[in-house]
Amino acid sequence: MNIFIGGAWPYANGSLHIGHLSSLLGGDILARYFRLKGDQVLYVSGSDCHGTPITLRAKKEGVSPETISSRYHEEFSDCFKRLGFSYDSYGRTDSEEHKAFVSEFITALYEKGQLYESSIDQAFCPVCSQFLPDRFVTGLCPHCGKPAKGDQCDHCGSLLDPNQLLERKCGVCGAEPEFRATTHLFLPLSQYEEQIRDRLSHARGWRANAIGMTQRYLDEGLRDRAVTRDIEWGIPVPIKGYEDKKIYVWVEAVLGYLSGAKTAALEQNKSFEAFWHQDAEAKHYYVHGKDNIPFHTVILPALLLSRGEQKLPDSIISSEYETLEGKKISTSNNWAVWVPDLISRYDPDTIRFFFIANGPERKDSDFSWQEFIQTHNTELVNQFGNLVNRTLVFLKKSYDLTVPEGTIEPEVGRFIAETYETCGKAIEQGAFREALECVTGLVKLGNRYFDEQKPWVTVKESKDQCSQTLFNLIQLLCNLSVLLEPFIPFAAAKLRKLLNASELLNISTEASHVASDESAHWTPHYILSGHTLFEPSILFERLDKKLVEQELERLKAAIQG
Ligand code: MF3
Ligand code: ZN
Repeated sequence: MNIFIGGAWPYANGSLHIGHLSSLLGGDILARYFRLKGDQVLYVSGSDCHGTPITLRAKKEGVSPETISSRYHEEFSDCFKRLGFSYDSYGRTDSEEHKAFVSEFITALYEKGQLYESSIDQAFCPVCSQFLPDRFVTGLCPHCGKPAKGDQCDHCGSLLDPNQLLERKCGVCGAEPEFRATTHLFLPLSQYEEQIRDRLSHARGWRANAIGMTQRYLDEGLRDRAVTRDIEWGIPVPIKGYEDKKIYVWVEAVLGYLSGAKTAALEQNKSFEAFWHQDAEAKHYYVHGKDNIPFHTVILPALLLSRGEQKLPDSIISSEYETLEGKKISTSNNWAVWVPDLISRYDPDTIRFFFIANGPERKDSDFSWQEFIQTHNTELVNQFGNLVNRTLVFLKKSYDLTVPEGTIEPEVGRFIAETYETCGKAIEQGAFREALECVTGLVKLGNRYFDEQKPWVTVKESKDQCSQTLFNLIQLLCNLSVLLEPFIPFAAAKLRKLLNASELLNISTEASHVASDESAHWTPHYILSGHTLFEPSILFERLDKKLVEQELERLKAAIQG
């Protein structure tokens, strides 16, 4: 089966923080899981490099927009790599490949008569003497009355046009904007309303927030959207008369999913055509935060439909928000935990585990240092790490690291098989917390089994029974090293190594090496008696509780400074 996974493209105008992480991690879980299942996966994302925030930042620093976007693109790539994100392509929207793809796409739409020209009154700041991008007109939402930006109200989620805002201000200097006539190319969203509505009514695997918000947009009636903008930093509009304009940043960013899939397919010697255009059975997942919903459930489908594409998004996995110590994250006030900082001090699996186990799937979830440190110590050290360590140390002491004779006990075997089943199903539905709970349930079963079987007693009284226990424990570890691969891939790989089973399972931690059918790994594995393991070593070190205070101090210092 062909599986496409599109992770949202973060804006290259500032570092990643825990909010990004909590919404994007699900994409990597899906990608790793489907590869283990033996499916053909293209997992694609990149840096969103255009748009006014980047221009403004560049101006402030006295550098070019490329300098800004390159700085953050490099930083993002490094962070994602260190966190184990297994993208098949991680691109950038200012790459030649992407620009050429978008240019061709827009030209084709224009030539097919899918875009129409219209003159509109656009917000223009007389003080800044420039047209203002929608987001840079601020005011009050006409629907809920709360402060909103000109493209969208973050409070009630309504899609807006700047001229609908009340008490409008220029988002850069605060002056009252004028409206001046300018000509743009429009995508007739209203034309696709029926198809989008139909799609929504058959939605499977959409998070509730995506269903709810999309329903609301449709009920409000879809308004046609300009796909061109009067801005400086973006992809030129490839149409005569539009030489001074650029493509709307959201329109070209969502097309990054296609341009990125094309790049990834090429690199893997797969046919992009066959993968994207000719496979109605394929499954396309989109993973992002909830402020991205309309762009994935309305704008992207409309663009695809207008281009005559058959394949629309299948699963919309949009997260709620991550808060920090009970308060809303604010990048401008530096109330945030930044990813480069976090990975400089903590194990990537510790980070992944926390944000998966506490993911903002159905409601906002909170990051607190107290819980972060505690989750590591209880789940990774006391439960998983302990099961691995006590088993391997016992095997070393009493069996010279060689797996003894034994048979798999029915209950253990059944539990293992069920875990693959229930965990896999949960992952496919985007229920990642639940999926992880299935696996941690197996870890707990392992520890209970160890306690109940008391191998430290049976080793003296009934060696056969002891062997049977150890044989079963080893099978649990072996399967945990597979089942945990989508969630905590570094520890999973290390465990396979300790089990001397890296080869046996032939699981690669690299993206895209696990493609062929004979490597379907999402299924129980067993290690044979007589197999010899490596010297045990610790998977996770306990974290000192004092770190909580230290981290809270650091957070406070940063907000003051
Ligand atoms: N840059 C956007 C954000 O950070 C996300 C873009 S997702 C894409 O919110 F699909 F449009 F690329
Ligand atoms: Zn509103």
